[in-house]
Amino acid sequence: MKKQQRADASKQTSVLGKNALEARVEREAMEIAKTIADVRTVVKFYQNAQESIGLVPTMGYLHTGHVSLIEKARKSCDRVIVSIFVNPIQFGPTEDYSRYPRDLDRDLELCRDAGADLVFVPEVADMYPTANLAFMDIRSLGEHLCGASRPGHFQGVLTVVAKLFNICQPNQAFFGEKDAQQLAIIRRMVTDFNFPVEIVPCPIIRESDGLAMSSRNVYLSAEERQAALSLSRSLEKAWQALEAGERSAAAIRDIIRSGIAAEPLARIDYIELVDSDTLQPIETITGSVLAAVAVYFGKTRLIDNFTFRPE
Ligand code: PAJ
Repeated sequence: MKKQQRADASKQTSVLGKNALEARVEREAMEIAKTIADVRTVVKFYQNAQESIGLVPTMGYLHTGHVSLIEKARKSCDRVIVSIFVNPIQFGPTEDYSRYPRDLDRDLELCRDAGADLVFVPEVADMYPTANLAFMDIRSLGEHLCGASRPGHFQGVLTVVAKLFNICQPNQAFFGEKDAQQLAIIRRMVTDFNFPVEIVPCPIIRESDGLAMSSRNVYLSAEERQAALSLSRSLEKAWQALEAGERSAAAIRDIIRSGIAAEPLARIDYIELVDSDTLQPIETITGSVLAAVAVYFGKTRLIDNFTFRPE
């Protein structure tokens, strides 16, 4: 949308204050909203100006993987909203909620550089003023993989994502294939509940040595960081076996398991091959398959995956 049109549209909204809005439209500056009410104001402003909205939900401590989502949103939407919120209800009681890494100043810098228009940084008390009684939940798609070892996790993810969709009203929302199960269940929630949003999948971004980027990589010691390369390397071997024609899920799992188990620092949570749509375990690979792993290195739990589609 052109600057003049945006300036005209700014006259239709009032809550931010005419001067603040006009100054922002002039400078094309990035907004930071700390409350749901402020986001709603800006969203109305975008909608009045007929601008499409892309949403990138995150828990912050941003890296190049997150940035790739913001850049993709920048290319396809008029306005890009990034949310930064470490969502307490998706962490189990023994998980890392309180020590989850945070660096808001750096995150804001990365959002600005990647072209975000609005960064939503809510407080827990604004998102959950009282303990929720209503939750989003999912049946079979959430039972295997991470759902088995993180009870309640996907209920927390879906609930916060549904809230973010209601608050930000995006036309498109961008999610990484790094969290393949999360992506699948969010897609299903959108279908089942008729959310008027298109879910856009984004490829996994890796370090140059193959380690999938993750905010949690910062927890790893140098030795654990080295051992964690076994994930991408063993997945790569499994990919090659699939390309060579192997179709037994057990054989592929063994390839991955032996690669990871050779690392003394690795403690396997799961190695699974599932149908990439239903996320149900399979024995023989006939259609699109998701190979997914979750492995502990010390206290840090890392995930990685690929999706293989036979010809
Ligand atoms: P977070 O782990 O911060 O991830 C935010 C988004 O970035 C997710 O869509 C995730 O899949 C994507 N992402 C993370 N690492 C990536 C990588 N290496 N390459 C590509 N994309 C990557 O996922 C969450 O937060 C939360 O569960 C959330 C959806 C925000 C709900 O709280």
